[in-house]
Amino acid sequence: MVVDTIRTLKLLSKWGANMAVGRRRPVIAVFSMTHYCNFYCPMCPFGDADKEGQIVLARRKDLTTEQWKTVFDKVSSHCVWSIIEGGEPTSRPDFMELVRYLHSKKMPITLITNCSLLHTIDLDELKKYIQFVTCSIDSVFEEPYCKVRGVTPQTYRRVMDNLQLLTEHKVPHYFNSVITKYNTQEFIDQTYFDRAKELGANAVSFTFVEDRSDVDYSLLPDRETMNKVCASILDYMGKKKEPQVMIPPEYFQQILQDGRGHFDECGVWKSIFVNGNGTVMVPCWKFNSPENTYSLLEHSVDEIWSAPQWDIAKTCHDCEVLGCIWYSSQPVTTFARNYMRGLGKMISKERPELAEAV
Ligand SMILES: C[S@@+](CC[C@H](N)C(=O)[O-])C[C@H]1O[C@@H](n2cnc3c(N)ncnc32)[C@H](O)[C@@H]1O
Repeated sequence: MVVDTIRTLKLLSKWGANMAVGRRRPVIAVFSMTHYCNFYCPMCPFGDADKEGQIVLARRKDLTTEQWKTVFDKVSSHCVWSIIEGGEPTSRPDFMELVRYLHSKKMPITLITNCSLLHTIDLDELKKYIQFVTCSIDSVFEEPYCKVRGVTPQTYRRVMDNLQLLTEHKVPHYFNSVITKYNTQEFIDQTYFDRAKELGANAVSFTFVEDRSDVDYSLLPDRETMNKVCASILDYMGKKKEPQVMIPPEYFQQILQDGRGHFDECGVWKSIFVNGNGTVMVPCWKFNSPENTYSLLEHSVDEIWSAPQWDIAKTCHDCEVLGCIWYSSQPVTTFARNYMRGLGKMISKERPELAEAV
């Protein structure tokens, strides 16, 4: 699908007009489609080991197909791009129906998935509706992959087979890897890059893990190891261009220098993050409390973006290494440089006819 440039320009000019009068509004939509995930990642609340309980929760709390469509209707009049994630979005039986509907709203779509269920999906149909698949491939080697993702070697092999399917069906995709203390070695010795290329990734994005506050363990590597990872990725970026690293060098330079990323003001307000039950937490999941939670079924985007709790984000610097927060908080030029180059690389491989649209 080619991005509808007229729609994008109209929405960006509306966004700019709002900004000019001090009215902040979201431009990116993130839909966390379900509370259920079939993986057990220790870094993620959806990795909960009680899968039966999670299924009950998802049945009780997940928005229905029609409710998600109502949410898409509301959000698509603001946002230029959408990201579908979860839980595991592909586990929803109505996954393709919802993607098709979002596409009918002319929303460009990125799908973030653990890739374990892609063999159950019609990828030729999927690629008509989405722009990219972000494959959550934290490690490209079996043992660390299974440790970071809490899954068996069989699941690892299924995921590897499904990556092959993405390549065969020419679905544009890149890898996003969360760096934890379990998978640093492949970045330090740079074996990650050749293996990612072998697995069909032309572009890769990284973030260090953001430790959860609801558990009593840390998955962040120690400072010395983080420094080695940063130095090695910077070294790779300096000498090789493939796979393209989509996160700018400044992210690694800052962590190397100060152990954290820098930003003046958190950019979390630029995205609307809709939970599986249709709620939005203001300013973000870290401030999860009933008084900070607004249902998008009951409120408009304008009402939610007028909430006083957005002021919290003006001074919060709590996310020290989380890549998505870091780059939503950067000047547009820093963000655009590597990210757009990465998208260009990926598209020129899978769908050369679309490369110019990016
Ligand atoms: C929550 S998952 C949901 C989508 C899907 N189940 C998947 O695994 O891609 C979305 C992304 O968040 C990342 N993620 C989860 N917990 C994280 C954490 N604590 N720090 C940084 N990224 C995290 C995952 O690796 C994944 O790329």
